[in-house]
Amino acid sequence: MSVSHMYSAADKSRTYPTNGEQIYFTGRSQAGSLIAYQGGNMHAQMHVTACADCHGGHREGGRRMYPTFWLKAPSLTTEALFGDHSDGHGEHPAYDKESLKKVITLGVDPSGEHLDSTMPRWMMSEQDLDDLVNYLAEGTSGPEAQDH
Ligand code: HEC
Repeated sequence: MSVSHMYSAADKSRTYPTNGEQIYFTGRSQAGSLIAYQGGNMHAQMHVTACADCHGGHREGGRRMYPTFWLKAPSLTTEALFGDHSDGHGEHPAYDKESLKKVITLGVDPSGEHLDSTMPRWMMSEQDLDDLVNYLAEGTSGPEAQDH
């Protein structure tokens, strides 16, 4: 399990190949709009936060240090989200694109469970949400996978 400081997971000044990836790693769309969120904890609210800050540069999840406590974010690999959870992680049924949108925006997983408030509830345009979900569904594992 990886352990890293949460504000170092990704380079926010880079341009990523797809809009979905851009949002995942920087918290901004390629058009430049900031992805807004509600909830999360106090520390998340004080910082610009991207998915990668908590879920990792390879969507691997893991434990990350907040200023005052440890947070454990689940893996968001395509296998972890859409596969059958044979890795023993996560108790929810597999996601599809619709249920993935729901958990990202409303924090409700496919079994109707409400996620912990440490996962922020995200607000973005329908297009940005589509792009983000498509990125998560595609199976690319991070910027390195794209750097040929
Ligand atoms: C501040 C840290 C943090 C950030 C930033 C964050 N998440 Fe999370 N996320 C979490 C935590 C913690 C959980 C687990 C909550 C729980 O188990 O109740 C979670 C859960 C999830 C889940 C559910 C996974 C599962 O196995 O059911 C998805 C999907 C998800 N996050 C997507 C995202 C996306 C997409 C972004 C960026 C738009 C994002 N998260 C940003 C902390 C974060």
